Amino acid sequence: IDNQAFSNSILSWYRSNPRELPWRGTQNPYKIWLSEIILQQTRVAQGLPYYYKFVTQYPTVKDLAEAPEEEVLRLWQGLGYYSRARNLHFCAKQIWFDRAGEFPNSYEELIKLKGVGSYTAAAIASFAFGECKAVVDGNVFRVLARVFGIETDIASGKGKRQFQELADQLISKDEPGEYNQAIMDFGARLCVPAKPDCESCPFNGSCFAYTHNLVDSLPVKINK
Ligand code: ADE
Repeated sequence: IDNQAFSNSILSWYRSNPRELPWRGTQNPYKIWLSEIILQQTRVAQGLPYYYKFVTQYPTVKDLAEAPEEEVLRLWQGLGYYSRARNLHFCAKQIWFDRAGEFPNSYEELIKLKGVGSYTAAAIASFAFGECKAVVDGNVFRVLARVFGIETDIASGKGKRQFQELADQLISKDEPGEYNQAIMDFGARLCVPAKPDCESCPFNGSCFAYTHNLVDSLPVKINK
């Protein structure tokens, strides 16, 4: 399957299988950042009520910046990985007080924020600013390894570079944000780790793993 056909199929699958999520209707970088931090180690179903609590209590970066830390941590209670909440509050203060409220508006600026790695920076840059940066996480590793038959260890430096390079070639240049949402959802809902729904997959004619009976063996992850 060529790159263009892959990205068109991912986008058209997404459009016929939409999942309504509150951060998808917005281009507000603050709200997108908030959602991505909440979703870092948390499933969508668990993160949703926290997203609502946070945007209601702190509708803008100013509201979060001016909040007392104990209040932010209290609101975070039950989600775990509290460094996420501390970093969130720290960055909000930095943006509001040191950057005069100007939210970082590119991948290069976003990745400098505490708690924002390459995945989160790519997600925010593409969703809020239409930047062509491909997200690569466990879901993306799995989809690309299976469809394209990549057998490189996803835990190795070589594997990470190889998958990022492929992902950057595949991303839709016209709709990078939509494409990133689409591949995330495709990996989370169809091309799942165990018993993926290959019968209804748009790639079942060309997927390397499916046609070679390797769905359960890809991606390759060597535990170190
Ligand atoms: N997981 C991480 N980011 C996500 C997003 N924007 N939508 C759904 N799941 C996600």
